[in-house]
Amino acid sequence: MSPVPPESPLAPDDDWWQTGVVYQIYPRSFADTDGNGIGDLAGIIEHLDHLAGRSESLGVDAIWLSPFYPSPDYDFGYDVADYLGVDPKYGSLADFERLVAGCHGRGMKVVIDLVLNHSSSHHAWFQASRSSRTGPYADWYIWRDSPGRSILGAWRPPNNWRSFFGGSAWTWDDARQQFYLHTFLPQQPDLNWRNPAVREALLGVVRTWLDRGVDGFRLDVFNTYFKDAALRSNPWRIGGRGAWSWQRHVYDRDQPELRDLLAELRAIVDERPGRMTVGELFDGSLIEAAPLIAPHHLVFDWSLISLPWSAAAFKSAVAARDAAFGPGPWPANVLSNHDQPRHASRFAPAAIDPAAVAEGDARAKVAATLLLTLRGTAFLYYGEEIALRNLSIANKDAVDPPARRANFLFPWWNRDQARGPMAWSGGPGSGFSTGPPWLPLSADAARRNVGKQTRDPDSVLNSYRQLLRLRRSTPALQEGAQEVLAQDDADVLAYLRTTGDTAAFVALNFASRPATVSLPPAPSGRVWRVAFSTTGRSPAEVLSESAILAPLEALVAPA
Ligand code: GLC
Repeated sequence: MSPVPPESPLAPDDDWWQTGVVYQIYPRSFADTDGNGIGDLAGIIEHLDHLAGRSESLGVDAIWLSPFYPSPDYDFGYDVADYLGVDPKYGSLADFERLVAGCHGRGMKVVIDLVLNHSSSHHAWFQASRSSRTGPYADWYIWRDSPGRSILGAWRPPNNWRSFFGGSAWTWDDARQQFYLHTFLPQQPDLNWRNPAVREALLGVVRTWLDRGVDGFRLDVFNTYFKDAALRSNPWRIGGRGAWSWQRHVYDRDQPELRDLLAELRAIVDERPGRMTVGELFDGSLIEAAPLIAPHHLVFDWSLISLPWSAAAFKSAVAARDAAFGPGPWPANVLSNHDQPRHASRFAPAAIDPAAVAEGDARAKVAATLLLTLRGTAFLYYGEEIALRNLSIANKDAVDPPARRANFLFPWWNRDQARGPMAWSGGPGSGFSTGPPWLPLSADAARRNVGKQTRDPDSVLNSYRQLLRLRRSTPALQEGAQEVLAQDDADVLAYLRTTGDTAAFVALNFASRPATVSLPPAPSGRVWRVAFSTTGRSPAEVLSESAILAPLEALVAPA
């Protein structure tokens, strides 16, 4: 592979990790160039202009790629068989190099997903580890003897830990005559971060990708890297849905050793200015998230990802986070990702008649305004810019592996619904693929696609473009402090972002009827002037102490 220029074109000390907008791509579903129905890196390269570099681009600052490494796909890439390679179904390292160059050439950063809690069971390390109790890789995974047989004669697992993907977290291995630990599928054995050789190898992976020119990492389930050294059983708790929630997860995640490791990992990333990480907090709370956040290092705390369509719900989530974080830790805002139902569907009315579809799109624009103006780095999930909806896939047809293991003890949602092919055009294969797609195309792809929404000035896509442009030119939206404003109407969420002597006022009407919003005084010598409205309010309109919002109107008025 020829060397990728290690430096991005942006200034080395830039603050994109904080002010920017990151666009998540699920490579399997973005664009397929070889007709096998699975997206690939060449497909992403073909669509980079959609993301940045041209006047009609969305204008995002970075992409985050879900895993593209060689993988047997038990968890669609989150089971990595080679941390330094590219799976041939996605392309080659040369394609990756072209992708990085294509992003950097458009002023866009590249964040890649690192899955370091576990590898694939097909990884050479695990194969070596399972083959010998004494070989050099014997201690690279978490192996334990059984405490003995049960009354029924089966080997009993070392403790009561559960797999997040159903069943025990321990699988018996006939070759070693021992159990190994897997927080997720049995095909995803947990690496032993307490082994210095493992630590060195995985930090070496970080260094290699930095050398290859990437600008940051999304750290998959990073708070599970360490488990209790003595592997004590978790205490039981009463309540909750499914066996996972019947335990207090005090020993199988969030161990104090994580702090030291993060410091070491961050020091490596920080050696090169302008790099960042974002850690995926697994099954954790705001209280656990706050101390893990640092400059250039964000944490997905999930405050917003499963809220209902309700101003009060968002108001209290924002208040809870502001209280837990205070003015320091910088939030990461996300409404959708590859694990959760798409928010355009979560927020849309249940009916599918044209009026309900239009109402759903109007809500998607309000949600976009929220996501792109709240304090924090914004993360978009491919397709949300056209309000792509969930696929409807019967459980019996699910390909998401945990969905196929679901039962009473393990209730699970089908993640396929959020992973549908991107809809680029109304033509055959929606412009996604010329072959049979790995998941069905959206039923409404002929109407809901990038080409069509580009031509419609009132589309969801054009709202995203306008909002991204406004955010980029408004420092208060990018970096300002945030104050939620009390309002008489419970369906209105309004807040202020301020930095220096500039400010931006944001008002969101969650109701399908007009609503009144009150405004605070503008900073001295300035006026609130509308710069964006989802309902076509005249730009440049000046607002004073109160304004009437149209049904489902979101507006932004800087001063
Ligand atoms: C993270 C990923 C998810 C994956 C799991 C195991 O939660 O987002 O897709 O299945 O980790 O790697």
